[in-house]
Amino acid sequence: KDSNSLFQDGIPYELDEQTNVTPTVLSKLFRKLHLQPHHPLFILRTQIESYFPHFSYFNTFNPIVTVRQNFDDLGFPKDHPGRNRTDSYYINKQIMLRTHTSAHQLEVFRKGNNKFLISADVYRRDEIDSSHYPIFHQMEGAQIFDMNNAEQETFEDISYLTLLDSTLNVREEVYDDTRISESNPTQSCHPLEQVNPIIQHLKFSLNSLVKKLFMHHDENLKIRWIDGYFPFTSPSWEMEIFFKGKWLEICGCGVIKQDILNNAGQNDKIGWAFGLGLERIAMVLFDIPDIRLFWSQDKRFLDQFNNLNHNEIIKFQPFSKFPSCIKDMSFWLDDNQDFHENNFCELIRNIAEDLVEDVKLVDEFVHPKSKKKSLCYRINYRSMDRNVTNEEINKIQEKVRIDVEEKLNVTLR
Ligand code: PHE
Repeated sequence: KDSNSLFQDGIPYELDEQTNVTPTVLSKLFRKLHLQPHHPLFILRTQIESYFPHFSYFNTFNPIVTVRQNFDDLGFPKDHPGRNRTDSYYINKQIMLRTHTSAHQLEVFRKGNNKFLISADVYRRDEIDSSHYPIFHQMEGAQIFDMNNAEQETFEDISYLTLLDSTLNVREEVYDDTRISESNPTQSCHPLEQVNPIIQHLKFSLNSLVKKLFMHHDENLKIRWIDGYFPFTSPSWEMEIFFKGKWLEICGCGVIKQDILNNAGQNDKIGWAFGLGLERIAMVLFDIPDIRLFWSQDKRFLDQFNNLNHNEIIKFQPFSKFPSCIKDMSFWLDDNQDFHENNFCELIRNIAEDLVEDVKLVDEFVHPKSKKKSLCYRINYRSMDRNVTNEEINKIQEKVRIDVEEKLNVTLR
């Protein structure tokens, strides 16, 4: 009826020039894969929760949040690239789909929680390949300690975890060359003797978690710590694990900015936070080769996770790989400033849905006279659960071509 508003859960939202949510992405809001029993993301979530037994768990926060919750409250500068319409989904200027679980940190601290896990679906506009999907799941973890007692509390915890971990039969190699430095500093309000135990406790907790998750795996586990940057932690790190010849980022973390704790009324506390990417970990853990499979309703996928017993190593048995159908598309950019790959990818995703597997730029050149730029993209179409026909893909490709020319300010070649 009213084309200028959008109803979600019976609540009307005004639309404006910032709006860029699409029906495809909105239709996924109710799926809540991390709450669906037997789903691999559910299994992983509950497994991680069991390794943090004294924490509070929050798993049902609404994905529609304010820009303030997602960015401002966490100290994101006004010009942070994550705020761009090309990177995030907006309902309007004030309301968006959360891009990370950190959007809920402040409210959970405000309610007086000292240690908690938040699991949720998060939304980001991105490229298309086997490990990127516009919706994925994160788990936020945080623990805060009394400033005056941090050393004692963290020490007790670490001793206990060390004891427990020594009974696990895991061979792990942890590479950590990170040092506190000017480019990754501690906060001036945190004396070193106070913050060092927090850092130790954070790294210890995460190394220990990953060890437990991979304890039934036969391969050696390799973990690497590198310096990171987040507006809401300092110092900050990223944790990576080695998988199939590559380092895979699975987590961002750091010492929580004191401003956030002060705003939450937790002035006498100091602590850490992390954000884990659940799909990335589940792909490694269960051998799931493509991120689209998490959204599959195919019994051949879901039933594999149905009757597991806790100590069993679940390995996904791929049903035979169906043939792919590759289509190239070349176009001139009418305005070299205007084109953004995420817009192109989303347009394809809106038409092809989960039939698109991969989109790659394969050629790029500038015409010597007109100075116009030409791009050639290779689109790889494949279904996860059936054969597609060339005819069917041709129809999709034709729709994509029409849409690209209409909406993207380009001229097809
Ligand atoms: N929210 C960050 C991200 O999505 C991860 C993070 C969480 C980093 C908590 C630090 C602390 O990339």
